[in-house]
Amino acid sequence: MSLRFRLNLTISLTMFIIVSVGALFITHNARRSVLEEVRSSVNMALQLIDAGLQQTGGDEARLRAWLSELAHLENTRHLRIHVQQLPEKIIKLDSPPRDKAENPVPSWFAWAVTPELMTGEKMVESSGGNPIRISVEADPSDEIAEAWREAEDFLYLMIILAAAVYAVVHFTLGRAFVSVGVILQGLEGIEQGNYEKRLPHLDLLEFDRISQAFNHTAEALTRSRRENRALTQQSLAIQEEERRYISQELHDEFGQSLSAVKVMAASLKKRVDDDGLMAVEAIIESCDHMFIEVRAMMRRLRPMLLDELGLRASLEDLIAHWRNRNQRVEVDFHYDDEVEQYAGDAKIHLFRIVQECLTNIVKYAGARQVSIDFRLSARTPLHSIILDISDDGKGFNPEQTRSGFGLLGMKERIASLGGEFDLTTRPGGGVAITVRVPCPREPG
Ligand SMILES: Nc1ncnc2c1ncn2[C@@H]1O[C@H](COP(=O)(O)OP(=O)(O)OP(=O)(O)O)[C@@H](O)[C@H]1O
Ligand SMILES: [Mg+2]
Repeated sequence: MSLRFRLNLTISLTMFIIVSVGALFITHNARRSVLEEVRSSVNMALQLIDAGLQQTGGDEARLRAWLSELAHLENTRHLRIHVQQLPEKIIKLDSPPRDKAENPVPSWFAWAVTPELMTGEKMVESSGGNPIRISVEADPSDEIAEAWREAEDFLYLMIILAAAVYAVVHFTLGRAFVSVGVILQGLEGIEQGNYEKRLPHLDLLEFDRISQAFNHTAEALTRSRRENRALTQQSLAIQEEERRYISQELHDEFGQSLSAVKVMAASLKKRVDDDGLMAVEAIIESCDHMFIEVRAMMRRLRPMLLDELGLRASLEDLIAHWRNRNQRVEVDFHYDDEVEQYAGDAKIHLFRIVQECLTNIVKYAGARQVSIDFRLSARTPLHSIILDISDDGKGFNPEQTRSGFGLLGMKERIASLGGEFDLTTRPGGGVAITVRVPCPREPG
């Protein structure tokens, strides 16, 4: 449930409760006042009837005249008066039902405030024999209509006030949520690696503090990423330099010494007996074996072909040796010839990326098919080299897999060239890596 929805719900419920409690309070008061009014009307009517009876002084003619007056009373507020000569002759049913009020009372209000039926009666002996019953019955409809008129205004006022409070709170929250949205956008940017994102100055003090703290954090992240990148690139450069040095040493020192050993052994061939010859042959064979091993090491450390014959030849050599060791995997290699002219300083980096990908494929993928595709994308103002490497192996879940130095190194190599690196994979779905490297303006 979103915070905005929860706050709206809470405010709506609070307003509903306030209006409901107000309505209950008003209804309760109205009921009490209707009850008191009606009760006092009935009591008053009974007292007046007592007084009227006393004034007749038991005189039959005066009693009849008074009863007639009573029977003709009209518009008796809150009351219905029945004058009845028993056993059943009704002399007059006064206060006939009135016209409905202009502003009809809602049935729920009438139901809530109508008191229980309230009645009173007096029996009068007449000289004619049959007693006369004067009954007074409460009629609260006038009082209820009046109570509704008062309650109605109050209820409308409460509803308008509640709506106004709701609107003000909603507007204020709406403004606050704009700031929350801005902060969320910034955090999402950071999550996606966009550390350059900065938040603006925000109106509300608390949000502005968050915005400033965010900007400081983003600043620190940018700095540490810059430092990390510089460190990684430096370590890649040192690594490359070391490899070049070791490869050179192997070639110059070890290779020369090995050649010397082999020449000396060969010169001994004619001077030794049969046993000695076998030993000399063994030394020469070992020297040849060591030559092969050393050359393989040198190739891994620094592909000489890269400087001499270029990227295509080095890759073909790398792939051929790799295929020798992994004969069950098909490698589909495609290389656009124009790439060679534009590769320049990127050659060693592109070579290392293919080398690392092939190593990873052996280590983790269990693939049957590998595709390596180099092409030139002609775009103004700069062309770029695009390298696609994909395998049909196990793939992996990037969320749950810790990147080693291999993938990190690839990214850093590409970053140092100002290019883009993209890796797509999912468990069971192989791995596809796409690299885009901007080329120098002129072909090399
Ligand atoms: N082609 C692939 N198929 C399946 N999983 C792969 C593939 N390439 C990389 N991975 C997964 O990604 C992880 C990170 O690879 P990365 O090359 O960065 O590190 P590493 O090979 O484990 O160590 P390092 O390269 O530093 O020796 C690997 O541990 C592996 O789980
Ligand atoms: Mg690796």
